[in-house]
Amino acid sequence: MDENTVTDAVLEQMSSTENPRLKEILAAAVRHLHAFAREVDLTPEEWIAGIGFLTAVGQKCSPIRQEFILLSDTLGLSSVVNSLNDKRVLREIPPQSQDTKSSLLGPFYRHGSPAFEYGQSVAAKTPAAEIAYYGRVQDSSGQGIANATIQVWQTDEGGMYDTQRHDGSEMDMRGTFHTDSEGRYCLRTVRPLSYSVPMDGPVGDMIRAQRRHGMRPAHTHFLISAPGYRELVTALYMSSDEYIDSDTVFGVTSSLATEPKSGDHSSPFPSLPSVRYDFVLVVAAKDAASGRVGADPSQFIKHPVEAAH
Ligand code: BEZ
Ligand code: FE
Repeated sequence: MDENTVTDAVLEQMSSTENPRLKEILAAAVRHLHAFAREVDLTPEEWIAGIGFLTAVGQKCSPIRQEFILLSDTLGLSSVVNSLNDKRVLREIPPQSQDTKSSLLGPFYRHGSPAFEYGQSVAAKTPAAEIAYYGRVQDSSGQGIANATIQVWQTDEGGMYDTQRHDGSEMDMRGTFHTDSEGRYCLRTVRPLSYSVPMDGPVGDMIRAQRRHGMRPAHTHFLISAPGYRELVTALYMSSDEYIDSDTVFGVTSSLATEPKSGDHSSPFPSLPSVRYDFVLVVAAKDAASGRVGADPSQFIKHPVEAAH
């Protein structure tokens, strides 16, 4: 057995895997992992440092923190999976006009955000730099989709998510809206700021070692769903942001870059800088799985009684 022949030996032993997809994924993982170790001539010290790093990533996870997703995001893996999923979905459905591009769910999504009415603000405080988002949720023929659910979340005026400010018991700067009978939506919020991905864990150590800035351009997240349509996970980015071309997690696509405009008389709030954006949902493929590349971090943490078993 040497560093080359061991690869075939492992693949041979795993060849009895019953589930064909599991077999394919693990075989490819083993081939690439072994090739990676051979390519860099991995030493025992480097191997154990890698084990220590992944252990620390796991230990940093909590009901309000998913360090593994952050690792996937900062290595660009989440963006690869997102793009693959967008392409797969478009292969499975009949050709439709351009749908809205997806973007990362990120680690700060939470289930069950408070419900708001058309035009309300998600900001608990009303600071000076208020903006409005408005437009329609529509299908690929331009028909409005009534009663679509729109979940939004973003940082506050100081550039932090609620889970970074509190212990997770309070929700702020996030909310759930519904479109009206014509598919229209409107919400107010504060102008988002660029912010740093969480740097107080092992992923932050990695980012610093790589001399990366760790910043994300300012954005507001949108998760939009309606029965019969593919769920859309996306975000709208501030195009004037200094980090628009160097997002640490590779989430920006040009069609998602926007800028609030003053004096927009079509806005339901003409006195506020407003972004008009129409989101296009595509009809869901039969039995389509969720396209979310990300999850509420609490979903991975076992209840203490469950964990004890
Ligand atoms: C976010 O936009 O919330 C985010 C996404 C990926 C990593 C960190 C933050
Ligand atoms: Fe974000």
